[in-house]
Amino acid sequence: MESQVTGTHEKSHALRLAKPVVGPRARQWIEQIISSGRLIQGPFCERFEEALGNIVSSAHAIAMNSGTSALYACLKACDIGPGMRVGISDLGFAATINAVELAGARPVFLDVEEETLDISLKCIEDTGPGLDALIVVHQLGLPAGRGIFHKAHDDKVMIVEDAACGLGSKLGSRSCGTLGIAGTFSFHPRKIVTTGEGGAIVTDNEHIARRAMAFRNHGFSGNEKNDIIEPGMNLRLSEISCAIGLEQLENLESTLEKRRSLLAVYKAMLDRVPGIRILSNNENDTWNVQTLAIMFEDSRDRDRAMTILNADQIEANPPVASLSAIPYYAKKYKIPLRQVETSRKCTSLILAIPCYEGMDESDIERVCMVLKSCF
Ligand SMILES: Cc1ncc(COP(=O)(O)O)c(C=O)c1O
Repeated sequence: MESQVTGTHEKSHALRLAKPVVGPRARQWIEQIISSGRLIQGPFCERFEEALGNIVSSAHAIAMNSGTSALYACLKACDIGPGMRVGISDLGFAATINAVELAGARPVFLDVEEETLDISLKCIEDTGPGLDALIVVHQLGLPAGRGIFHKAHDDKVMIVEDAACGLGSKLGSRSCGTLGIAGTFSFHPRKIVTTGEGGAIVTDNEHIARRAMAFRNHGFSGNEKNDIIEPGMNLRLSEISCAIGLEQLENLESTLEKRRSLLAVYKAMLDRVPGIRILSNNENDTWNVQTLAIMFEDSRDRDRAMTILNADQIEANPPVASLSAIPYYAKKYKIPLRQVETSRKCTSLILAIPCYEGMDESDIERVCMVLKSCF
């Protein structure tokens, strides 16, 4: 294969955005699970939930079969539904708005700040009073700013965190996912910890935890009458999935360490390249380096970089979308561009590039060389 940049015929391996690791202990545990015949609702789910709760310091962690189902179940358990207005970042992933819609609530599209990708406080003010809840997304795993939590607190608006990308990130000393009434994580293969498909709800609120637990298991209350609290679904996470994730949870600290060292190498190599900046956390917070992304000054440079990287077997794509621009929602809500202008702009400027534990310095050098060749 000929490199677009060097023009050589060296065989360079493909670099993906993420590459999940299934460790040796997980493989043993899977054998054990298969031999035991207990494939669901067994000890690995309990261990997984306990490990997750400990990591984020949350009283309850409830494993679910995806980040999307976790968010949906979380909204239901928080009583977010018909007649309610729920603020969401216009910038993000379809799952957030889909969960709001499925819960029967009305999404209120909020613009973001270009510098941080956080929801714009001014935009919240402009929507006027009357938000019942706010879903805070930690974009790319970057902890959202304090301002949004203070504002919601002052306005007495319930916060649910869609921390799909935020496991291991912290705002000050507090883990993302635990800053509102409840939070959710995703364990999709792109995420820092993956169970294949998977997700979880974390909360300190006993009532919400009970409802979420029942909801993931058909609504069963767990009492001897075999009654249901309310109609639920089957959103359980299998024992095999939990075992895959458990080893990664136990190794989370070293994973975070490795990712931070990759970030440092990227920063050193791209520091002085004009026209781009690496999106990163502010000093007092901790970022899990879930999704490494570059912000370009010019969308044409972003598009050219994406094409050239992809042609060189380096996966790179826009990590976030404008939710109000998804044709279904554009038709349904007809949000004017001026309401979400920065979000739309950001979608044309951001590019996610490879960052995973299996990468080494020479891989990063390769990505950076291709990137630099775009200017
Ligand atoms: C912000 C956000 N919310 C929700 C989800 C959905 O997670 P899952 O793919 O596990 O359903 C994702 C997935 O990437 C996400 O980025």
